[in-house]
Amino acid sequence: MAQKVYIKDLAEYVGKEVTLKGWLHNKRSSGKVKFLILRDGSGLLQCIVFKGNVTEEVFDTADKLTQESSFEVTGLVKEEPRAVGGYELDATDVKLIAPSVDYPITPKEHGIEFLIDHRHLWLRSQRQAAILRIRHRTIKAIRDFFDDRGFVLFDPPILTPNACEGTSTLFETEYFDLGPAYLTQSGQLYAEAGAMALGKVYTFGPTFRAEKSKTRRHLTEFWMVEPEVAFNDLDDNMDLAEEFLEYVVQTVIKEKADDLKILERDVTKLENVKHPFPRISYDEGLEILKKNGVDFEWGNDLGGADETIISSQYDRPVMVHRYPAEVKAFYMKRDPKNEKLALAVDVLAPEGYGEIIGGSQREDDLDLLISRIKEHNLPQEFFDWYLDLRRYGSVPHSGFGLGLERTVSWICGLDHLREAIPFPRMIYRNTP
Ligand code: 4AD
Ligand code: MG
Repeated sequence: MAQKVYIKDLAEYVGKEVTLKGWLHNKRSSGKVKFLILRDGSGLLQCIVFKGNVTEEVFDTADKLTQESSFEVTGLVKEEPRAVGGYELDATDVKLIAPSVDYPITPKEHGIEFLIDHRHLWLRSQRQAAILRIRHRTIKAIRDFFDDRGFVLFDPPILTPNACEGTSTLFETEYFDLGPAYLTQSGQLYAEAGAMALGKVYTFGPTFRAEKSKTRRHLTEFWMVEPEVAFNDLDDNMDLAEEFLEYVVQTVIKEKADDLKILERDVTKLENVKHPFPRISYDEGLEILKKNGVDFEWGNDLGGADETIISSQYDRPVMVHRYPAEVKAFYMKRDPKNEKLALAVDVLAPEGYGEIIGGSQREDDLDLLISRIKEHNLPQEFFDWYLDLRRYGSVPHSGFGLGLERTVSWICGLDHLREAIPFPRMIYRNTP
């Protein structure tokens, strides 16, 4: 059987005859020659069909190909620096596989709603395919980082009996005779059990928030990676976060330079993403806001606009630590120097992309944790297993969660998270 050839590998086939399969991205004609732009998922290739080089039937097939028809083309590979992708094919044969009639997404401009309605087809555009390849490489970089450092991948359940990140954003479903179950908001509580068993773990999977917010930073279903490490304190957690983010960003901009070029992303700002990142306290963050004329009351959580002002002071991500405990989750340890503060850290991305990482040192004292669960009005019976982690050899430990779509969106320079995942789920949309 003939070996399958893909456009991205054409460098190996210069001067040889190959057969490629794909879809018609675009077509130009000038009299006796048809220029077919083949798209095969790995790239684009201009195929030249000269009337004199092929049979009448083949020329006719090339003539009738419409946008997104699938076809097979055979020909000689030539180097051509001026052509898209750097190669060209001198076609000797063209075979229609299946027609495409009135493809809805034409080369003209379409509104964003129309495009998301046709997300299943929009994915075929060069831009969307480039974003998805970058997403894939980002996932690989994330996994490589942890795998190479002795972390064990630890898969938490998706159906859970209790909340992790507050009760206001839970998706609820009936679970047989056991009452309600909720789609997980975070794998963290389970990752803590994993860290006590395996030392260093990370979870990586879909998480859910019934977010009522209609912002460009919120999805209802998003992917999160969450490392959790026994014996790490808040400073260790920040060290890990900056080393991790530097690795991911530097790897992706190096490995995916071609796709970032398709997106016309200016990567000079991403090149700055190197440790050490500035570390400022929440109180220092408020000073920055005050200097910029924002009247901010101590005790509130930072909003997107506040994050943008703070992060615009720096040329790389900034880590904001020690938030008021009131606005943070029940499991966070308090600062021994100031009970009002949680040993939390948020990492804010530059260029207005806001919070991409949220993390903390965890409360490791049994009695304090029980009182926090009560203060948050959480049902203690569902946390009994979690409390066991403090009953049997409790140790200081920390971790964080990085939102994959926010990270991809920042790396790609997107306006909205909806393009950073194949099929986005938002408050007003669950199709296609
Ligand atoms: O700050 P969050 O809520 O933290 C947690 O869930 C912790 N349990 C993580 C941990 O310590 N293991 O969420 C972490 C990150 C955010 O910084 C953001 O990047 C992303 O998850 N995120 C969202 N991304 C898209 N849409 C949403 N609705 C998101 N909510 C959070
Ligand atoms: Mg957060």
